[in-house]
Amino acid sequence: MQKIVILTGAGISAESGLGTFRDEGGLWAQHRIEDVATPEGFARDPALVHGFYNARRMQAAKARPNTAHAALARLQRDWPGEVVIVTQNVDGLHEAGGAEEVIHMHGVLAGALCAACGHRWPAPEEMAVGEPCPACNGPTARPDVVWFGEMPYRMDEIYDHLAGAAIFAAIGTSGQVYPAAAFVHEAIAAGARTVELNLDPSDTVSSFDETRFGPATQTVPAWVTELLGQSE
Ligand code: APR
Repeated sequence: MQKIVILTGAGISAESGLGTFRDEGGLWAQHRIEDVATPEGFARDPALVHGFYNARRMQAAKARPNTAHAALARLQRDWPGEVVIVTQNVDGLHEAGGAEEVIHMHGVLAGALCAACGHRWPAPEEMAVGEPCPACNGPTARPDVVWFGEMPYRMDEIYDHLAGAAIFAAIGTSGQVYPAAAFVHEAIAAGARTVELNLDPSDTVSSFDETRFGPATQTVPAWVTELLGQSE
């Protein structure tokens, strides 16, 4: 049965109240990436970086999944083949909406990572500078989020999934950040049918066989209903 691989970005969580990065007034209009989303920024001013992620962690903890998250969970449940969700998002809304085995290639706000020993544990709501690692006790805790210049997580697994995709969908991502922006080319090489569901055309929109524009809470449930209707 056909395997579906889905890549999501900040746009799928926008209607849950979580800001995107590059829309008008987005996160990168409020903060300089080099200050809050790079290892150098963290080394320079860890309090600023913890403050940035503490605010996002608390906001994400209060957010609720929307009908787009729920629709993808329904697709995972009811589609006769495998449905793999790869997300660039660090919120937990896919899981809160019922999705399983979500691959968080940019990490998770709910996770803490020890920069010294690599130990991972559930992040406290507020992380402070010098937070001790429960395993090695070093003052080396950081958010378990992939920063610019760092390697996204589980890339080998993701490329394996893309190599077997019959359908590839990119949902709510501007296609400006690599390697995620190139996943559509991997899917095309695998012979997959590709679709972009977005509010505005992404930078990679021309690579897709099909595009559907509108808010994710409208385009994603409609797309899932159509797919499931076909699979009966
Ligand atoms: N429904 C669907 N799409 C939406 C909605 C919505 N309600 N609102 C915004 N969008 C779309 C925008 O049109 C845009 O294409 O979501 C996309 C958001 O793009 P970005 O803000 O660039 O977010 P994303 O593509 O996820 O960024 C990728 O960049 O900064 C890094 O690590 C960060 O994971 C992030 C990565």
